[in-house]
Amino acid sequence: MKATQVLTIEDRNRRIPLYCIFCCSRDGVEVTVAKVVQHSIHYGYRFGAAHVICPETPSCNSTHVSVTTNPSDFDIAEVPFLSIENEERRDENFPYNLTVCISNVLGAENNNALQFIQMVEMYKLLGVQKMVIYNTTCGPDLRRMLHYYQDEGFLEIVMWPISNFLVPATGWKFKELKGDLHNYGQITVMNDCIYRNMYRSRYVLLADMDQIIMPYEHTNLLLVLQELQKQHTNVTVFLFENNIFPTTLSDQRNRFYDPVWKAVPGVNMLKHIYRIPVSDGIASTKMIVNPRAIEQTAVFTVLKMYGATLHVPPNMSRVMQITDPELGDLSMERLILDERIWDFEELLIPRINEVVHKTMANYSF
Ligand SMILES: *[C@@H]1O[C@H](CO)[C@@H](O)[C@H](O)[C@H]1NC(C)=O
Ligand SMILES: *[C@@H]1O[C@H](CO)[C@@H](O)[C@H](O)[C@H]1NC(C)=O
Ligand SMILES: *[C@@H]1O[C@H](CO)[C@@H](O)[C@H](O)[C@H]1NC(C)=O
Ligand SMILES: *[C@@H]1O[C@H](CO)[C@@H](O)[C@H](O)[C@H]1NC(C)=O
Ligand SMILES: *[C@@H]1O[C@H](CO)[C@@H](O)[C@H](O)[C@H]1NC(C)=O
Repeated sequence: MKATQVLTIEDRNRRIPLYCIFCCSRDGVEVTVAKVVQHSIHYGYRFGAAHVICPETPSCNSTHVSVTTNPSDFDIAEVPFLSIENEERRDENFPYNLTVCISNVLGAENNNALQFIQMVEMYKLLGVQKMVIYNTTCGPDLRRMLHYYQDEGFLEIVMWPISNFLVPATGWKFKELKGDLHNYGQITVMNDCIYRNMYRSRYVLLADMDQIIMPYEHTNLLLVLQELQKQHTNVTVFLFENNIFPTTLSDQRNRFYDPVWKAVPGVNMLKHIYRIPVSDGIASTKMIVNPRAIEQTAVFTVLKMYGATLHVPPNMSRVMQITDPELGDLSMERLILDERIWDFEELLIPRINEVVHKTMANYSF
């Protein structure tokens, strides 16, 4: 039977049933009983991601849907209808080959503008054609960068005013952070981004603001995917090993201290070229997926899908996470010098400079 899914955030203790109200194209409305599939990963918070599956009857031919606890006594004019998007398609004509979903939501304290420009320009060189970001609010310089890339058409900003509805936690540790919902609703955001891009992009890359999935043997990510997909035709989820490049350690030859960049707040990731070795078995991963094969995703791995998962060999491609690992003193001898990002210097630096000049025009350098 045909069904429409509504991606929701719901109270995991809900005891009353949910109903779907369809707005039919010919006459009036139709109410059906919803089936709710809650995500198993919620980090202990009271609210979590859930898929509300609404069965449709063939006679209805609906264009809009709503979800309610009250199936019999509603005022149709008051029902908040959502338009039904994303109807299943079989063709393969996607406007984009590779879209990046930034999977953590921006918060007020985030003003890491320089690292954001560097990440975007790096991804563009690697074959990314579109980026989607979920915004609550952020610092003034980062906001300027977001508007720049939005005007350019590269970035889609999805408004995510989660604090108007719930008290979101700012991380994952429930016991310390309290609140209603894990990390600003990150899991719902990631699922939303996959569904939103299902028929717009051949592949979707899910990673955080401070991460880049970097190819080590190819010059762009599409070549990596092409090669892997040729060898493993049924793979729909590609997992990449995460590697931390601590911002507490910098290149000792002082390359890439471009004076132009001083006006831009944030981390200059080109300075941080020491990688912490991954001990066996503890690496987390980030992923590139075929969005049409995904039913449910969690942060580090997919929960429900069609097809197979592949762990991409790290020497072919790995995640660079440029961050403060809060590990205290790191002994230099254990770290691996990894200058891969410098291989892109010639193309990358002028592009970053151009964006800095255009966005920071009122500053004197
Ligand atoms: C369903 O509705 C759409 C849009 O209103 C219309 O184009 C289509 O012909 C309808 N299909 C049927 C089977 O009624
Ligand atoms: C996606 O990649 C294929 C194969 O390389 C290419 O033929 C196609 O033009 C690309 N599509 C877009 C939108 O760039
Ligand atoms: C992000 O959201 C905040 C709060 O709603 C808004 O003020 C700001 O303009 C948004 N930023 C962008 C780039 O859309
Ligand atoms: C994918 O293909 C491999 C080898 O061709 C096979 O071993 C595996 O069972 C397949 N997995 C799925 C989920 O079809
Ligand atoms: C990459 O790693 C694999 C498995 O560890 C190894 O077989 C292969 O030789 C490595 N390739 C390179 C170029 O180092």
